[in-house]
Amino acid sequence: MSKELFFPVIETERLTLKALVIGDSDDLLEIFSDPEVMRYWNTAPWSTVQDSFDFIKESNDSMQRRESLILGVYLNSTGELAGKCMLFNYDKESKRAEIGFGLGRSCWGKGYISEAGEALIQYGFKSLGLRRIEAEIDPDNQSSAMALEKLGFSREGLLRQRWEINGIVSDSAMYGRLVSDHPERNNQVIYTTNA
Ligand SMILES: CC(C)(COP(=O)(O)OP(=O)(O)OC[C@H]1O[C@@H](n2cnc3c(N)ncnc32)[C@H](O)[C@@H]1OP(=O)(O)O)[C@@H](O)C(=O)NCCC(=O)NCCS
Repeated sequence: MSKELFFPVIETERLTLKALVIGDSDDLLEIFSDPEVMRYWNTAPWSTVQDSFDFIKESNDSMQRRESLILGVYLNSTGELAGKCMLFNYDKESKRAEIGFGLGRSCWGKGYISEAGEALIQYGFKSLGLRRIEAEIDPDNQSSAMALEKLGFSREGLLRQRWEINGIVSDSAMYGRLVSDHPERNNQVIYTTNA
């Protein structure tokens, strides 16, 4: 599988998904230092620009190793960084990966994840050949649950007391979508080039 497949530029009507660059560090820090954005994440809010540098470097390294796709989500209208979305825990043999996303608060509730998420899912199914995409979320994370359901995921189960972070124990809700689940959605056109 070629390295270029892990460095796509995916365009939708309002958004472009592409690899993060070091110049995004300040914008990335602003988004992921917000405790509201990080409320249901399994790590603390970021605190310094070094957190952005580390994230961008690790993301690009893992894409070079063909292990994950970690893409910035940019607004076509202004070029502004809205957040990030990713396919990670890629298992080539089982044709499966996990999806995750996070947007800055000013970008919530505008349908951006419905748009970016579907494009990423289509890329995963069509270009990476995935059969299954899964997601693990805190069951209290209503906005994520709604976004996943809107994206055609089914809730498949609850893993009890899966996490303990700073002494707080929480469950995980598991979601999944198969390539065969919504064949009509697989006709959606996305524009893809390589970085
Ligand atoms: C989860 C998140 C990415 C959703 O992104 P978004 O762009 O606001 O979602 P969308 O606008 O595409 O909404 C998708 C659907 O979910 C619904 N929804 C989104 N947030 C909601 C909320 N807080 N309450 C109820 N419904 C909500 C929307 O109404 C929409 O359905 P509709 O089209 O039928 O109205 C965003 O809230 C976020 O970044 N949260 C913080 C990070 C996070 O928790 N990430 C998940 C961990 S993987």
